[in-house]
Amino acid sequence: MGSGQSYPSVSATHSAPSNIALIKYWGKRDASKNLPLNSSVSLTLSQDDMKAITTVVASPGIAADRLWLNGEEVDLSGNKRVRAVLREIRALARDRAVDGGGVIPGSVLRTWKVHIVSRNTFPTAAGLASSAAGYAALVHTLADVFNVGREVGDAMGEREAPGVLPSGTLSAVARQGSGSACRSLAGGLVEWRAGSKVDGSDSYGVQLFGEGHWPELALLIAVVSEKAKGTGSTDGMIRAGETSELLQHRAGVCVPRRLDALKTAFLARDFPSLARLSMVDSNQFHATCTDTYPPVFYMNDVSRRIVACVHAVNEKAGLGVIAGYTFDAGPNAVIITTRQHVAFLLAVLLSHFPPSASDLTAPGGFVSGEALGGATLLDGAQKLIATLSPALTPTSDAPSVEGCIKHVYATTVGDGPRVLGKEDALADATTGLPLTIGKAGGGFEKGL
Ligand code: DP6
Repeated sequence: MGSGQSYPSVSATHSAPSNIALIKYWGKRDASKNLPLNSSVSLTLSQDDMKAITTVVASPGIAADRLWLNGEEVDLSGNKRVRAVLREIRALARDRAVDGGGVIPGSVLRTWKVHIVSRNTFPTAAGLASSAAGYAALVHTLADVFNVGREVGDAMGEREAPGVLPSGTLSAVARQGSGSACRSLAGGLVEWRAGSKVDGSDSYGVQLFGEGHWPELALLIAVVSEKAKGTGSTDGMIRAGETSELLQHRAGVCVPRRLDALKTAFLARDFPSLARLSMVDSNQFHATCTDTYPPVFYMNDVSRRIVACVHAVNEKAGLGVIAGYTFDAGPNAVIITTRQHVAFLLAVLLSHFPPSASDLTAPGGFVSGEALGGATLLDGAQKLIATLSPALTPTSDAPSVEGCIKHVYATTVGDGPRVLGKEDALADATTGLPLTIGKAGGGFEKGL
């Protein structure tokens, strides 16, 4: 196809998972490049329930870059993060073969504008890392549309070669959208290596263990509040960097030690050590928030009571350490356990926080998660409540309170981004205009 020829539009639809950090990212060494103070490690969550789905359409007929989240258009003019992601991916654009013959030169493709349509299947900005899934899906889809190529390591034994991207390239682009997003480009256990280069080129996510390494792991995510948080993570961590001495000690001394210990525990599938390290690191992250001036509080009374429940289970159920918890920048609890103990832990939570009638009958049910049984899991847990020992049930000092846990995602560790088919597209393949209006949150709240 020569110049002046009309090219067909190009489109792709991908999904990407959320992740939950067991050793938290908190603090930036360079806010403009979004480089972290410390390395962090996360579990990639199964996409069965929680994921971002993104369709990108690029075409010479599209006049301007536009973005829709759950059917609502977002103004991109002031959105530095999405613009940075678009700029970085366009710089990597390569010649793209067209179905039926012909090639769109990379130099032409990178001048095309895009329409982006995205939706998340879980609440935005409530401490459930929706921006991580959102930016990971965005980067992965754009990389397909602009044909940026494979990364080193996609094929076994491959070394850097012309036309092959250095490993971590896409993760480093996602990092510029939202730091935690750089850990959502792979499944299993992923480390975001802080790196030391000034340009940030060595700061990206690396898979440490695939999702098949420890299939018994299970997670219960108790949604305590679906409201957007008061202080966003970016603002919270910048303020912590300016005022918290504890943050410096954490990043320099505590986190490196914990990262080593966590890798050892994961390799050996040593659950008590994994759970303990997750709890200790979550507690310290929230302590740095309290140590910030003025302080930032993400956990609430319900969160703290869930912490007490987990410790009671570990100390008084006679089963050893069977659960850990971790909290991001919000009140929702992520309880880590193994499949065999999921129903028991859910029973303990339900006895303290029985669901309200409306949450029980909400569309999709109170507990979602097919991999762990969904509604069957809820039934089993409700039957177990009567068998719980008094040490694990509410007391007159701490009576049960209805409706404080709104929903529970019962999930597992999952894989990285997926390429979806045309039937999953959220936008018209030619115009890029949204086809449907999603119902849950967005995922690009940062910088809007
Ligand atoms: C508490 O990735 O949301 O979830 O890079 O400023 O967008 P930005 O921050 P973000 O921070 C996540 C913080 C955390 C811990 C973690 O995921 O490691």
